[in-house]
Amino acid sequence: MTIQWSGLGPELLLRLDRGSAQPLRSQLETGLREAIRGGRLHGGERLPSSRELARELGVSRGLVQECYSQLLSEGYLISQAGSATRVAAGAYLAPPEPAQRPDPPPRLIADFRSGVPDLASFPRGDWVWATREACGSVATADLDYGDPRGSAELRRVIAGYLRRVRAAATNPEQVIVSTGFAQGVSLVLRALAQAGARCVAFEDPGYGNAETDETVRAAAAAGLRVVHVPVDDLGLDVAALEASGAQVVVVTPAHQSPTGVVLAAGRRQALVDWAARRDAFVIEDDYDSEFRYDREPVGVLQGLAPDRVFTIGTTSKALAPAVRLGWVLAPPALPDAVAAEKLISDRGSSTLDQLALAALIRSGRYDRHLRRMRVIYAQRRARLIDALARHAPGRSPAAHGRRAGRGGGGARAAGRPVRDQRLPGGRHRRAPSARDRIRQRRGARHRARHRRRRRPAALTKEVAAWAGGHLVGWGVTLRWSRPGRPRSHVAPATEAGW
Ligand SMILES: Cc1ncc(COP(=O)(O)O)c(C=O)c1O
Repeated sequence: MTIQWSGLGPELLLRLDRGSAQPLRSQLETGLREAIRGGRLHGGERLPSSRELARELGVSRGLVQECYSQLLSEGYLISQAGSATRVAAGAYLAPPEPAQRPDPPPRLIADFRSGVPDLASFPRGDWVWATREACGSVATADLDYGDPRGSAELRRVIAGYLRRVRAAATNPEQVIVSTGFAQGVSLVLRALAQAGARCVAFEDPGYGNAETDETVRAAAAAGLRVVHVPVDDLGLDVAALEASGAQVVVVTPAHQSPTGVVLAAGRRQALVDWAARRDAFVIEDDYDSEFRYDREPVGVLQGLAPDRVFTIGTTSKALAPAVRLGWVLAPPALPDAVAAEKLISDRGSSTLDQLALAALIRSGRYDRHLRRMRVIYAQRRARLIDALARHAPGRSPAAHGRRAGRGGGGARAAGRPVRDQRLPGGRHRRAPSARDRIRQRRGARHRARHRRRRRPAALTKEVAAWAGGHLVGWGVTLRWSRPGRPRSHVAPATEAGW
């Protein structure tokens, strides 16, 4: 892409060797020719004015003008009256693009990937406001490298937020700002490996293995042996963890990834008892805890055992992954060990972005955005559950939570309307009569016998049309029981064969 300079003169690195026998003008010509031929300067790019370049190089303006006119006559440069001298189009022949281009990803009509929020709903206006606040109020001294734990202001705000919303037992001294969960967990695993931990357990299903997942790779890179512990309908199997020999476990208690199960109260207690007994640590991935639809909020595990639990949070679901900000809440004895890893990693996250996030939370805009998104996601979730029940009754979804699969989130368990319904696009559906219902039941039995594989396409199209192509952030885990498939899975549309 051609750089368009407006007003300010472009800078150009050219060197003149005053000790050389080659005259300065010839050196300058050669330097410019090589910069164009070598691709450092592209067609259309502006050169500095002869006055600026002469001042920069400490030569006379006449020398630069002579040099420019020589290159103009050779076709390397172009110049029009009243406008700057530019590199001629075509003076540099770009090397051909590499023949092997990766295949573009398949076009999805619906994207069921879990873990990505609705990017179109990112609160751009609020973020612009918060960045202006941060830029306008930051103290000059705070523009220097800061505390590797993060800005004192953001740590104070996060500690307050976690106490208020997640019932965490914390103070700002325990908070380390990270670039998100991925960095947070890697810092903690490294700090625990340094402190003598040898084996870490991950949930199964969960992050996966070292080939497919960077969190598991980070554990291996920290020198830890990795084991997997099963998850059932109550969450992590603590008895299996006990038998695994791990000294560290990474769990998703608020919303198990990917099944959506909430860690049951008995298991929460058993997990922290395990940690206390074994002198072990729990790393709580508190991701997605902001979104719940059919159950009471559950506080962080850290509140039960602040000395044994690291809680890691992220803005990736609440705002967008592009923000790259998250936090580690460390046990009181361990923030320094985590901060030491953060220092080695990147000397601390961007102070300006941290101050913007602090302003967003402090002003209430963060909470307001979450409230808005909960409504949007709850509507989509109910809509999806309803559409699945109607179009794919044999593959009915289980929306986890206490009322999983039983009409959670306001959706009905059966796919038939009991009252008149308003449909998207202003359409209207009449409530079925008793005779309709008998016919429907017969039809359902018939369809169950002759179910065709491609039926869900209609569903996906309907929901995609309704959602304007955005089917992310559903808070729904799809379940189906096709042979050879996992029982519970979050399905990219392509993988499900839709
Ligand atoms: C289980 C889980 N936890 C946390 C995250 C967030 O990671 P990060 O904060 O690095 O974006 C993800 C991302 O998809 C995830 O799948």
